[in-house]
Amino acid sequence: MAKHFLTLLDLTPAELNDVINRAIELKRMRNEGEIYEPMKNKVMGMIFEKSSTRTRISFEAGMAQFGGHAIFLSPRDTQLGRGEPIEDSARVISRMCDIIMIRTFEHEKIKKFAEYSNVPVINALTDDYHPCQLLADIQTYVEHRGSIQGKTVTWVGDGNNMCHSYINAARQFDFNLNIAVPEGYDPIESIVEAAGDRVKIFRNPADAVKDSDLVVTDVWASMGQEEEQKKREADFEGFMVDSELMSLAKDDALFMHCLPAHRGEEVSAEVIDGPQSVVFDEAENRLHAQKALIECLMGTMK
Ligand code: CP
Ligand code: NVA
Repeated sequence: MAKHFLTLLDLTPAELNDVINRAIELKRMRNEGEIYEPMKNKVMGMIFEKSSTRTRISFEAGMAQFGGHAIFLSPRDTQLGRGEPIEDSARVISRMCDIIMIRTFEHEKIKKFAEYSNVPVINALTDDYHPCQLLADIQTYVEHRGSIQGKTVTWVGDGNNMCHSYINAARQFDFNLNIAVPEGYDPIESIVEAAGDRVKIFRNPADAVKDSDLVVTDVWASMGQEEEQKKREADFEGFMVDSELMSLAKDDALFMHCLPAHRGEEVSAEVIDGPQSVVFDEAENRLHAQKALIECLMGTMK
């Protein structure tokens, strides 16, 4: 059976740490101009039902650098958008491609696709999870500060797909996670409960951020929630990560955001463009971390 990556729980903590270390190595190799083509003649199918800049470019560039090829598939010009059953699409695409990544809405959809695919399926974001981003975030933390084990991370904002993946990361990479979220926007209860006392919910961002090693936020309205933008702006008042909030974290705390960001909403320009921000390293590391993930799922990891 193919090895899928639908959430961070699909790999063991040891496998995840191997992916992070390998990502750092692949980054070094690329920076030194080393040609490494373990995916020669291999094809990735890339299904996007939502927009993307980083995810598309990182997977497509990664496959090209690995000597392979990637096919961008949008529902607008495939039969996926005309209602061909997921089960059939999965069986067809996985007979021709060697690995598939999917960005879609309902998490159930990618689960069903993976069930019928005989090649690895990667979750490139669903309404519930964004595990690839976490590989890049952890790589970025390790590169700047060393191991994240035992550290305190604070999530400020919506209990969304990124927040859920941070909860799973807290379990798998063994760190403490404070979540500052306004009432009504909590992460899914079962995901929080499964993480035990590593995860704590706060209503006041200042209490949550105190003494943190890493502060993370994301947009208040995710893809598919555009019509809630105005209501969310009101409900998230007081949840902007600004310099005052950052000053409550540890002096050497980092700031992360998966991007795209809205300066002046969930984060001030001063913070995201300031010295504690590592958002562009995070974005670049999507490339290296996903190349390591591809190797891991394809069983070619060194
Ligand atoms: N962070 C992220 O996944 O960005 P894109 O939506 O641009 O892929
Ligand atoms: N939570 C955001 C992440 C974008 C990368 C969204 O789902 O739109």
